[in-house]
Amino acid sequence: MDVPRLMAQVSAKKKAYVETYGCQMNASDGELMLGILAAQGYEVAATPEDADVILVNTCAIREHAEQRVLGRVGQLNQLKLERPELVIGVTGCMAQRLGPTLLERAPYVDLVMGPDAYRRLPQVLARLRPAAANGAQRRELPVLSKAASLRVAALDFQPHENYEDLEVRRTSRLSAWVPVQRGCDYRCTYCIVPYVRGPEKNRDPEKILAEVRRIAQDGIPEVVLLGQTVNSYQHGEWDFSRLLRAVARVDGIRRVRFTSPHPNDLTPALVEVMAQEPAVCKQLHLPVQSGHDRTLKRMLRRYTVASYLEQIRLVRAAVPDLALSTDIIVAFPGETEAEYEATLDLLRTVRYDDAFLYKYSPRAGTPATRLPREQFIPEEVAQARLEGVIALHRDIQAQINRGELGRVVEVLVERPARTPGDVLGRTDSNKVVAFPGDPAWIGRFLRVRLTATTGATFVGELVGDPALQVA
Ligand code: 5AD
Ligand code: SF4
Repeated sequence: MDVPRLMAQVSAKKKAYVETYGCQMNASDGELMLGILAAQGYEVAATPEDADVILVNTCAIREHAEQRVLGRVGQLNQLKLERPELVIGVTGCMAQRLGPTLLERAPYVDLVMGPDAYRRLPQVLARLRPAAANGAQRRELPVLSKAASLRVAALDFQPHENYEDLEVRRTSRLSAWVPVQRGCDYRCTYCIVPYVRGPEKNRDPEKILAEVRRIAQDGIPEVVLLGQTVNSYQHGEWDFSRLLRAVARVDGIRRVRFTSPHPNDLTPALVEVMAQEPAVCKQLHLPVQSGHDRTLKRMLRRYTVASYLEQIRLVRAAVPDLALSTDIIVAFPGETEAEYEATLDLLRTVRYDDAFLYKYSPRAGTPATRLPREQFIPEEVAQARLEGVIALHRDIQAQINRGELGRVVEVLVERPARTPGDVLGRTDSNKVVAFPGDPAWIGRFLRVRLTATTGATFVGELVGDPALQVA
């Protein structure tokens, strides 16, 4: 093939850019979208400026997340003023939640697509191209009725869609997300997830294991199994403990994490696998949401503080040195000061290594929004509660981490750190450590002594000669 023809072919390839917000499941969906597009001949653009198609892959879990995305989409529209043929799509949970109203609110958005429709992405984009070519005209006439036939909302739920047999385009060479479950069958009263991601669907274990074997063959040492309530996984004879054990035993996989489990599905069998399988990380993220039974009941969490603490006791007894993390929502409607204090007490009792702390955010359509108006907590009170729980958690975390100083841990080196000359990695228990090192060590497991802590993260030093260390 002569050179000019080759160049013509290369420049004909469309470039796609996916910008993801929100949880690891959504980030994994971003990799799936890039994989689907790459299979249809798209290239991955390094920046939005360089792209023919920009997909903003959104989160709907809290109001704040949605506001950020709307601002960002508006910003990206600036690119369209210069390049009217640019396609802007909004995907993910917020796209599903707002649907066609998003097309009305943001007249420059060409495509709105929910989490069950990604398989059709290339076909839908192909239909959009003529619309994009009309972009200049649409900018002058951004009236929905004039452009509606050229813009698409793909929002149907597919009860069996689990994206089996599609190649994802992985962004990390060190850690691979593997969704094992989509959707959620719980109905926590504050949560939008079941409404935007539909009911729980579990993947075939044999296909999951085949994917993990491919990951290992590609030299990726860590997998993170993903699901909204990952440990409720069930497929035929397979439950989550069996799946986790099988994944942990795949040759070449050195670390397995999973997120997020629901406390009610933390079975003795799962605890046993965590204790017995060396590849399963000594780390558990177990969302508690509140430290008071009345609030838990009104959230429809289906456990009590006592039963949650019993789970923690069992898992800690079985897995010494386990690092625990959690999610907490403060200022749920009707939460009294005493109930909030009970959450602080729970933090003091459990002493989490890490915690993700949120102020309740009303999500239209969820049961909690129908609670009596007078129960909604005033913003100043909610903010004060959030700040209180953050301060307490930081204090506990710093105490825990100071207690770790002097220990020698195994770190998987991930990337250069911000400080020049340092590299950064993670321990088995998911703690971040920066230490003087060579970027050539990225991808290796090295023994590092923890020498200082900022409270949340660590500074360390390499123990011994890196040339003599394994992997
Ligand atoms: N408001 C605040 N936080 C929420 N979360 C889920 N829904 C809401 C909401 N409406 C939090 C929960 C969940 C985490 C992913 O986000 O703590 O575990
Ligand atoms: Fe939301 Fe509850 Fe399902 Fe988690 S378990 S996704 S908080 S409804």
